[in-house]
Amino acid sequence: MNSVIDNLGLDLYLNGLPYLVPIHPTLVHFTIGLFLLAFLFDVIGALYVFAKPLMGKLAPGRAVFFDLGWWNLVGSATFTFATVAFGFFEMFLAQPPAAEVSAWGLSASRTMLIHGVGGTIILFLLVLLAVWRGCQRYQWRVNQPRQVQIPYLFAAAVTAGMIVVQGEMGAHLSTDFGIHNTTVNGLRLQKERGEAVSIDQLPDPFNPPRQSNPTGAEP
Ligand code: HEM
Repeated sequence: MNSVIDNLGLDLYLNGLPYLVPIHPTLVHFTIGLFLLAFLFDVIGALYVFAKPLMGKLAPGRAVFFDLGWWNLVGSATFTFATVAFGFFEMFLAQPPAAEVSAWGLSASRTMLIHGVGGTIILFLLVLLAVWRGCQRYQWRVNQPRQVQIPYLFAAAVTAGMIVVQGEMGAHLSTDFGIHNTTVNGLRLQKERGEAVSIDQLPDPFNPPRQSNPTGAEP
């Protein structure tokens, strides 16, 4: 697949990407943050009788929490299409280090494979949850004070757990293996040379030579 990307003739920056800031790690915050908020608001809505006294006079109506739960879920599922698309693009441009293993004992390539498959499954689950949640909101429980079913909340909790594992593996990719992470790769270069590398010795990220291996290290 790398040869397909190579044939595109992209000008790559020091981070190995055709743009300065990796986009997938930016988008994951929308996937993760919006989904966790959606789940939290739905749980507060479901447990409203207990939550209301804690909020005192400022307590909004119960429906507000279900509105927030629904629209945050829609946002998360929508953003995740872009998160996964950029995840694949940035994976195809990755140069995973062969010799290193993560804190979970997995190589960079294996971490990337599991993370990629996991991310695709999570996209599927988020869409499924959004459809299920939409049916409850607009059809099945329109006149019920509790808009969400208990099995739905359990399914959302399991998905939240999968997203936490997914995020941890993503952090292994960026922070431990240095995939598209200029700082980690700069430090690795420094370690390989056994001396401090000043910023002037690194290629200019704004005007880089075209390269397929930004660190210059053996893949
Ligand atoms: C729900 C879906 C996904 C979530 C929540 C997610 C989460 C993350 C997180 C938290 C990071 C670390 C970001 C950082 O600390 O800088 C990351 C990195 C990464 N992820 Fe994902 N990911 C998802 C899907 C995917 C998919 C489908 C792929 C590829 C097929 C992928 C490939 C990567 C790669 C290559 C990195 C390294 C950094 C970079 O892309 O520049 N991810 N991911």
